[in-house]
Amino acid sequence: MSVRISRSRKVSAIDQVLAGERTACVAEADCLDVLAGLPSACIDLVVADPPYLIGAKSDGRGRASPWADLCNSSTWFQKWIGECRRVLKPTGALWSCLNWRSLPTFYKASCDLGWSIESLLVWDKEWIGTGSMRGLRCSYELVALWRMEDFGIANRSAADVQRFKWSSRKPHGHPAEKPVDLMRWLIEQSGVSEGIILDPFAGSGTSLVAALDFKCRAVGIEVNETFAAIARKRLAAWKPESQVA
Ligand SMILES: C[S@@+](CC[C@H](N)C(=O)[O-])C[C@H]1O[C@@H](n2cnc3c(N)ncnc32)[C@H](O)[C@@H]1O
Repeated sequence: MSVRISRSRKVSAIDQVLAGERTACVAEADCLDVLAGLPSACIDLVVADPPYLIGAKSDGRGRASPWADLCNSSTWFQKWIGECRRVLKPTGALWSCLNWRSLPTFYKASCDLGWSIESLLVWDKEWIGTGSMRGLRCSYELVALWRMEDFGIANRSAADVQRFKWSSRKPHGHPAEKPVDLMRWLIEQSGVSEGIILDPFAGSGTSLVAALDFKCRAVGIEVNETFAAIARKRLAAWKPESQVA
């Protein structure tokens, strides 16, 4: 697969991945800046795990309506989700991690974009989180799927509740590191073997190493210098033995 690269842009690591001259890269930058520079319809799949932006109070003293806060943060979600839609090929899709608190933010962003959530996966973490004395302890998170017009799910029997063991150990030093099996499952359901996978919030690079397991090329964007370095280190340590046959 080849992608025409604008001559006016300096050839970056991302351009090289898009052109098939490189397998993977991590850009250390704000994802909105990088996404804006990508050509339309160049990506097969986006796997995103953004910060959930929970707990923000717009008046700084906790007096604002939580709904107003959700509406405010949804404008940022709308921007990056809209950019992901622009860079996806017609056969592509976007998966994004979220939780029950951030769901309304995502839902508003989707409605404002006119891009409906197709499915909502319940990820049973097989692990019980810490909780208050007054409420239930959370043992699940969510992953939303948005699809482009020609996307089809690989396994039509796949259910929307799946179990992937969460570990409180952070093997690569990122506080929100996801299980690689979850990322692999999302990629497998998307049927994108040998395509280009983008993660705009790469963190420690879990989705990127999962992409390589499926013989895909991987583009990661991570704003934090330390996490970008961890993700690059993980990619460099990746071994072809972990590739899906
Ligand atoms: C939930 S974590 C991702 C964890 C990752 N899935 C993993 O398994 O390691 C979200 C990441 O997004 C990064 N981030 C936050 N805002 C960003 C932005 N505007 N552009 C790029 N990265 C951003 C944070 O630094 C953080 O590492």
